[in-house]
Amino acid sequence: MEEEGSSAPWWQTAVVYQIYPRSFADANGDGVGDLAGITSQLDHLVWLGVDALWLSPFYRSPMKDFGYDVADYCDVDPIFGNLEDFDALLEAAHARGLKLMIDWVPAHSSSEHPWFVDARASRQSDRRNWYVWRDAGPGGELPNNWKCAFSDAPAWTFDAGSGQYYLHSFLAEQPDLNWEEPKVEAAMHEVLRFWLERGVDGFRADVISNIGKDPALASVEEARAKVPPFVFRNEPVTHEYLRRIRALLDTWPGDRAMVGEIPVFDSKEVATFYGAGDELHMAFNFPPLYAPFEAPAWRERIEVTTGALDPRDAWPTWVLSNHDVPRHRTRYGNEARARAAAVLLLTLRGTPFLYMGEELGLEDALVPAACKVDPGGRDGCRAPLPWSRAQGHGWGGAPWLPWPPDAAERSVEAQRDDPGSMLHLYRRLLAARRASPALRLGDFAFLEAPEGLLCWRRDFSGDCRFVVINFEDRELEWPQDDRHEVEVASDGRGESQVYDSRVGPHQALILKPTRPARA
Ligand code: NOJ
Repeated sequence: MEEEGSSAPWWQTAVVYQIYPRSFADANGDGVGDLAGITSQLDHLVWLGVDALWLSPFYRSPMKDFGYDVADYCDVDPIFGNLEDFDALLEAAHARGLKLMIDWVPAHSSSEHPWFVDARASRQSDRRNWYVWRDAGPGGELPNNWKCAFSDAPAWTFDAGSGQYYLHSFLAEQPDLNWEEPKVEAAMHEVLRFWLERGVDGFRADVISNIGKDPALASVEEARAKVPPFVFRNEPVTHEYLRRIRALLDTWPGDRAMVGEIPVFDSKEVATFYGAGDELHMAFNFPPLYAPFEAPAWRERIEVTTGALDPRDAWPTWVLSNHDVPRHRTRYGNEARARAAAVLLLTLRGTPFLYMGEELGLEDALVPAACKVDPGGRDGCRAPLPWSRAQGHGWGGAPWLPWPPDAAERSVEAQRDDPGSMLHLYRRLLAARRASPALRLGDFAFLEAPEGLLCWRRDFSGDCRFVVINFEDRELEWPQDDRHEVEVASDGRGESQVYDSRVGPHQALILKPTRPARA
């Protein structure tokens, strides 16, 4: 997948498709997706045209946070299959030219992990220091004012058995690992080696910015105390840990890559996690994900992101949806906007990450109170993928969450039959991207455009594309002297025809110059 005339590694030219295994495809009919289900649908993903997969956790877990509470980092939870199923999936993915990235959850384990069971058994336990323990204050006070995720609750839980508080940035069942303890770092490196040895191409590192803590564990100022500190944490020591992780990855052949989840909502801070090219290969940068569908907001977030990354020669990532936030089809309110957003996502400079189901234009499921299961209220975006029109939508048993709206019409089967569908739009976009070095790797520059439009140009050794996104619900004009062909249109209108300078309501276009574009 290396670009001719460039030495770009695979992770720079790839489009990555995130799979939330519980909700993707269910091979054994128990209503929960599994690894064999993923393997059975790889041909579909090849047909779609993605290059790499990222699997959310499939490890042994009590599932308090649906797998982000890991009880064994080196085994598959029986609900998803077993290690042989994993090896079969990896082999089948590689046989089809797909790269496979897996989630690595280094900042916390499950409270049922044997490490924590040992740590909490007594203050003298060998692994006591693998987690973060503190005494209560003289009046029984909490060690500091840190909050945990998902609730307004303190990030500390008192362990009556051993008489101390332990730290958990997320649920009480997800105690934070103490990376100050060298054995923790060594153990988590072992986990990386275990999966590298099996052949994975890379990792998505869960809240990696949270592995280093303020050594004083000091309370944060009042203005910040309302949100969990992992939302703004950027400790110097984390960068030391990251350099050692990078050194480990670099000893393996094949450009093994790590994309880190950095839930720090400042793109300049996010950029620091790339180090000097010696920390993360890529970092998720969430401010664009939270941008409203408005031209000025998107322009500002693209400029801030590239302004922060360019001086470091760091490679951007772009994401519109994932398993933690309402889907962008739901956030943006209609299909036309979601289609335009797909053009935006797949034509920016950087690696796009798709979240399974966005290519179907899925909306979040409306989950009745009785069916809600996630402590973070994220069930809606985790609804199962409908594969077929028929009742059951290709799942053997009733799935663990309700279907998203219009599951039959939105199913893979229905959309594969309809050339005008969202699924076919994604397929055309992925094909256009694959065929164009400019779209994959080219320079990026905004072009002058009237209010409501964003237009940019991508260039790579003579290959050139123009992109026009209409954020408004009315037709706008973007006159061009050069002859351009509409290569992809978000609504399909005008494709393969000469561009006539008009951009329909919420329409987005990829334009291909029909003679060499002027610089
Ligand atoms: C981020 C993951 O994406 C989210 O799903 C999880 O709840 C937290 N990290 C804790 O692991």
